[in-house]
Amino acid sequence: MLNFLPARTYPLAACLGLSGSLLTGLPTLAQTAPTTLTVQVNKPGAPIAKTMYGLFFEDINFAADGGLYPELVKNKSFELDEHLLGWRGIRGAAALSTYTVSSQQPISATNNHFLRMTATTASPDAGFINEGFRGMGVKQGGEYTFSVYLRKGAGGVSGLNVTLEEGGPGAGPEAGPSGKALAHTRITGLTTEWKKYSVVLKSAGTAEKARLKLTLEGTGTLDLDVVSLFPKDTYKNRENGLRTDLVQLLKDMNPGFLRFPGGCIVEGRNLTERYQWKETIGDVASRVPLVNRWNMEFKHRSTPDYYQSFGLGFFEYFQLSEDIGAEPVPILNVGMACQFNSAEMAPIGGTAAAGPNAGSPHNHEDDDPTLETFIQDALDLIEFANGPASSPWGAKRVAMGHAAPFNLKYIGIGNEQWGPQYLERYEPFMKAVKAKYPNMNIVSSAGPSPDGELFDKATQRLRELKAEVIDEHYYAKPEWFRQNVGRYDNYPTTGTKIFAGEYAAQSVAIGSPDNKNSWDCAISEAAFMTGLERNADKVIMASYAPLFAHVDAWQWTPDMIWFDNLKAYGTPNYYVQKMYSTNPGTTMLPVQRAAGAKNGQDNLFSSATADDKTGEIIVKLVNYSPQARPVTIALQGVKKLGKAGRATVLASADLNAVNSLEQPQNVAPKEEPFKVSSPNVTYTLAPNSFTVLRIPGKR
Ligand code: AHR
Repeated sequence: MLNFLPARTYPLAACLGLSGSLLTGLPTLAQTAPTTLTVQVNKPGAPIAKTMYGLFFEDINFAADGGLYPELVKNKSFELDEHLLGWRGIRGAAALSTYTVSSQQPISATNNHFLRMTATTASPDAGFINEGFRGMGVKQGGEYTFSVYLRKGAGGVSGLNVTLEEGGPGAGPEAGPSGKALAHTRITGLTTEWKKYSVVLKSAGTAEKARLKLTLEGTGTLDLDVVSLFPKDTYKNRENGLRTDLVQLLKDMNPGFLRFPGGCIVEGRNLTERYQWKETIGDVASRVPLVNRWNMEFKHRSTPDYYQSFGLGFFEYFQLSEDIGAEPVPILNVGMACQFNSAEMAPIGGTAAAGPNAGSPHNHEDDDPTLETFIQDALDLIEFANGPASSPWGAKRVAMGHAAPFNLKYIGIGNEQWGPQYLERYEPFMKAVKAKYPNMNIVSSAGPSPDGELFDKATQRLRELKAEVIDEHYYAKPEWFRQNVGRYDNYPTTGTKIFAGEYAAQSVAIGSPDNKNSWDCAISEAAFMTGLERNADKVIMASYAPLFAHVDAWQWTPDMIWFDNLKAYGTPNYYVQKMYSTNPGTTMLPVQRAAGAKNGQDNLFSSATADDKTGEIIVKLVNYSPQARPVTIALQGVKKLGKAGRATVLASADLNAVNSLEQPQNVAPKEEPFKVSSPNVTYTLAPNSFTVLRIPGKR
């Protein structure tokens, strides 16, 4: 397997360290005379797409299991390749006479492994501990539903003791079996057939790294499977719901769309390990886990225990999109495994002979899939999302509790694919989708680099094919973002639109574990985004990536939101995104500067929109300089000017400033009113600041 870091030599790296451009190397003199920015209220441009500012979700950095998906038990069904991963016998299982992961008469054909424990001497240590995902986060007074399938074997086991207890330093079972008990219950009434038991535990304390202890009562044999500890507090109190605080952070952003499930995870390291949405729906206990392709991608952040349980599957992604008011944008595999890894390709046409993937539990239907398999998956997904109850896949959605269609309008064909192999697969794929669903908007890929030969060729061909949306990715140094604010100024205004599908400023380099979510990165992204907004006739979607990271289990940095098992915080980058997505406006307004100065000149960046719903003019301003800067905003042709404006200011004198669990608001927006007394609105921008002004006024 190729390692991600050395393999990713993006052409854009050549841009790093450029100097003497329009935007860099200028003296930062205090400016006394205000700079005039003319907002042409009477010359409105394109509508701002409702999808303009959205979210990119990928299960990287423990974003799903251990993060957004709040199941506390790791490897609950003993189905991982290493069947006891996450489980440890207490004191080396010395009190058990035997234990084994068995597959004799399992619960089901898909869930065909379980833990069998036998004790010949009764002991409080006769059992196992589950370590959770870097521990289990529990809150005092919080309720947690414990459920398990049990089957009694030979002997006289009279019950199962279930204890939620504090973990010690390191929080693994290694820390010893005697942490303080936070909740305890006994499960009795065992039978010799598999039976599900469920009980609610109430935690007596708060612990970031608790663990679950299961011990036999009496002597004999007991089989266990599908062990779950799930908080009752989930977003909208859903039974298989999501972590409340993390969903709230997303909802607070007013996101236009939710892209899922990635990211390279869509592709997999090889085709067997690709993301297959059909494996992620239906009964949660029957979803077969799969290795997470990020587990060993970075040698310096290797995470061998990283799997996907698919408790958060496609139904839940659609439901999440609905809950946070975002358009769902599923990205599907185009018949290509990650080109940074195996680059395995599904053949185009014909039937593939049985190959290396034959027999995998993730290849139920095909020995080795052809492109047709992937196309059919996409057609079935659209039916799952939008089809009536009378359709085979629509019926599955209805059976899962969502009678109304999810109203899917966008799908992505391929994640970050490149080269002729992609275009050869994309074209028949796109045509098949369009033939059946002519109104579906298709997102296509321009590859991992925002320029260069492969990018140019892909863009040209996709435009010839009249692609609706091209997905561009850029991970680059902060200065790249400021230097490229005009990137879209000369893009064609008609035809294909742009989805800035993955971007983030990297303070050190792509893949570096030293990258920080610094204010320098965030303010540079804010500056760049004025260029997206000014080109709202070309750019209709944009999302920062990646979204989430667990502070103890990440692989990739920077990330927009960081969390531990109890708390979460938004980075400065989060606040930049939020300030855009909660202030999108409805119509782009051109902004001019004196003597034809370009956007970004003297490190002053700006864009403007009208919000026809509220009757306001919204002006976004980035002052990338250590001096305060007075500006005059001339609202050309404005009607019905009000008197009280509202400013939201995100600023820090220190470009290296970051937020953290301890200081989540170190760089956070502050709101303040300001007076509007004429169409020439004056305002002084703070040093190193991103400011959104809402000015009451109509066009
Ligand atoms: O955001 C992290 C990764 O960067 C994504 O999975 C991939 O699409 C890109 O290369």
